Amino acid sequence: IRCESSTDNSSTHSTDTFELANICWDDLGFGLVETDYMYVMKCSNDGNFSKGELVRFGNIELSPSSGVLNYGQGLFEGLKAYRKKDGSILMFRPEENALRMRMGAERMCMPAPTVAQFVEAVKLTILENKRWVPPAGKGSLYIRPLLIGSGATLYPSPAPEFTFLVYVSPVGNYFKEGLAPINLVVENEYHRATPGGTGGIKAIGNYASALKPQSAAKAKGYSDVLYLDSVHKRYLEEVSSCNVFVVKGRKITTPEIRGTILPGITRKSIIDVARKQDFQVEERLIPVEELLEADEVFCTGTAVVVSPVGSVTYLGKRITFGDNGVGVVAQQLYSSLTSLQMGLTEDRMGWTV
Ligand code: COI
Repeated sequence: IRCESSTDNSSTHSTDTFELANICWDDLGFGLVETDYMYVMKCSNDGNFSKGELVRFGNIELSPSSGVLNYGQGLFEGLKAYRKKDGSILMFRPEENALRMRMGAERMCMPAPTVAQFVEAVKLTILENKRWVPPAGKGSLYIRPLLIGSGATLYPSPAPEFTFLVYVSPVGNYFKEGLAPINLVVENEYHRATPGGTGGIKAIGNYASALKPQSAAKAKGYSDVLYLDSVHKRYLEEVSSCNVFVVKGRKITTPEIRGTILPGITRKSIIDVARKQDFQVEERLIPVEELLEADEVFCTGTAVVVSPVGSVTYLGKRITFGDNGVGVVAQQLYSSLTSLQMGLTEDRMGWTV
């Protein structure tokens, strides 16, 4: 995505001058752009992580018998950093990702970095790749921490060695629709998670098993699928990679966290932002039929931010929201959250670093 015409790769603003990578910042989607460095930290079976280091971004070596390749012993995280107009860079709630990784690691029998180790690794990786943080208003730097069972184990047991790795990529919009409303279809055959399973953590396998229903939905022209719970096949869960919210008047509801839904950091932030704006927010079971009454539906996630839903198709019936336009509530919450994340409004919540 190098720009033919791009010759000036530095940007000057009133308070700072910073160098930018020579790519076309207007064409960013949600795909990997290889950057300069990644952070690697290993933990052997004594449970202690060694001192991590920044190395050139590139392939990693794994035993064919590693825990992650054979038994899916792995977690990932996702967070974003934004560049402000003055060139400085803001991370959003990185300690929340650290805590979620620790929770997931406990479920997957892995040791995890401390919150301080995690945040420091993320910070160092961003700084070492700072020329890849898009200019203000052109996207963000997506940060992808991984925790994997890198040691060899033929027997299905926790791996004897673990690797914590952080890499980054500049990104733009997640959905090809950009900020336009997406069209979802309720998935009736496959489920994302079961009670007692790993749906509530960012286990890598959760995303592999979502590929088939997602691909089938895309082939039919939908943006993604909306999952129902696997027990009653009636209550809303989430979309493949984001949480879902339903708006009716001043009331906003979202499926409650009960082990099968990912506890999204954007979800949690939007709940707080909405409450501060005097919306009544409820976390509860939401029967799929409630969509029929909804004024608006939107999704939240690190990658998708806040994404309005134009329609949901359920058992062949298409339910549309807000004349297929961007709902006012979704628009308002999107603006409030992103202004905070980009440092355009004062951060009274203490969320940006
Ligand atoms: C994120 O929003 O960061 C996610 O983890 C979803 C991922 C599939 C892009």
